[in-house]
Amino acid sequence: MRLLWKLVILLLLINTCAGAGAPSRPDFAQEPSDVTAPADSPRSELRLRCAANGRPAPRYRWKQNDTDIDFTASRHYRLDGGDLVISGPRAERDAGTYQCLATNPLGTILSQTAKLRFACESVGNICDSCGAENMQLLLYSC
Ligand SMILES: *[C@@H]1O[C@H](CO)[C@@H](O)[C@H](O)[C@H]1NC(C)=O
Repeated sequence: MRLLWKLVILLLLINTCAGAGAPSRPDFAQEPSDVTAPADSPRSELRLRCAANGRPAPRYRWKQNDTDIDFTASRHYRLDGGDLVISGPRAERDAGTYQCLATNPLGTILSQTAKLRFACESVGNICDSCGAENMQLLLYSC
């Protein structure tokens, strides 16, 4: 009977120390990359991608221009898994640099920087349907 208990405890120890149950630091599976959004035909949503492995599963945060985004205060930004979703993206408010952070009890990792830019769409050398406010940008880039 004693031996049996020792065996059970040994098996439990092996089980927690190896394999799927072992805690691990976050590790990026997907980091955000630069995005150029059309300034002339706004999309309803923009998505910056971020995903990390780790055990326990990491929690995510995002920085915009080095400042933490406060998701509780914003309807404009939301988290979808690790992704940052920007609704109604606008150049004045959203252009800048973004970084994703993934955290679990074993550590925090910071992603590469992704730039979000807004530009007129061009067809060959001709910018298509840019509004007056984008004329300058249009003249420079065409
Ligand atoms: C972020 O920084 C860039 C470059 O300084 C600036 O053009 C942009 O307006 C800033 N974006 C925000 C949302 O503060």
